[in-house]
Amino acid sequence: MTSSSDAPNEGANGNGHAGRYYGQGIPYLPLDQYPGKLIAIEGTDGVGRSTQIQLLREWLEVKGYGVIETGWTRSELMQPTIELAKSSNTLNKLTFVLLYATDFADRLEKEIIPALKAGFVVLSDRYIFTALARAGVRGVDRQWLRNLYGFAIAPHMVFYLNIDVKTLIGRVLESRGMDYWESGMDLKHGDDIYDSFRAYQQRLLKEYASMGDEFHFRTLDARRSIDRIQDELRKQVGIFLEPVEKAPEPAPKG
Ligand SMILES: Nc1ncnc2c1ncn2[C@@H]1O[C@H](COP(=O)(O)OP(=O)(O)OP(=O)(O)O)[C@@H](O)[C@H]1O
Ligand SMILES: [Mg+2]
Repeated sequence: MTSSSDAPNEGANGNGHAGRYYGQGIPYLPLDQYPGKLIAIEGTDGVGRSTQIQLLREWLEVKGYGVIETGWTRSELMQPTIELAKSSNTLNKLTFVLLYATDFADRLEKEIIPALKAGFVVLSDRYIFTALARAGVRGVDRQWLRNLYGFAIAPHMVFYLNIDVKTLIGRVLESRGMDYWESGMDLKHGDDIYDSFRAYQQRLLKEYASMGDEFHFRTLDARRSIDRIQDELRKQVGIFLEPVEKAPEPAPKG
């Protein structure tokens, strides 16, 4: 894929303006200055994204914000297909990437854009960085991936839950165990799911870390307690959504 000279910013990269398409976007859906805000919570499998999103959502709703959640592979159109492809193990690298991209395109058009237009806070459980990380470790060309995701909207905030693989393994074993895809078993590191999980997640964490500066991740230390992480999230989101504290009314004179 080549860039034409009048469209140097075709793909997803850190120069994207929050609330606008990274690249050429969806041509038939031009964005206007929509009032909603897009907040992405990124992080690897089992790191604690859903836990944080649920708490953040409750807090925002109490404050009076309308909130919707959107999550990776949850599009009505694509979820059954992705589940089928995963269970029948018929995905190759390219179809894996394109199925994810279709899922995201469907949610962007049907959920995210309408919600931003209506003034909602959209909490996204994973964002395109998950796709970039998973495809990146499978050897898909990084620039090609960024070009593919030129139709994505640059979020207003991206929080990245950062963890080390040892803590992650403890957390995953305590909660729900390791599954085939989260262990990267398709990459054929070996037959042992534990070893494969560790090797694969290590590579994913490195891939996420390499995107931090480029996409302006606000990195949170996910090894801390649920409450401490949530406090930090609420602090940063609060400052962003309500940047100026209302100045007290001046006392009446006389
Ligand atoms: N900061 C934390 N410290 C300890 N345990 C945590 C923390 N955050 C979440 N957990 C626990 O880890 C498990 C996974 O959390 P959660 O489901 O929120 O992760 P997730 O990132 O959404 O996972 P998935 O990738 O499966 O969607 C849960 O049992 C949760 O209670
Ligand atoms: Mg989850």
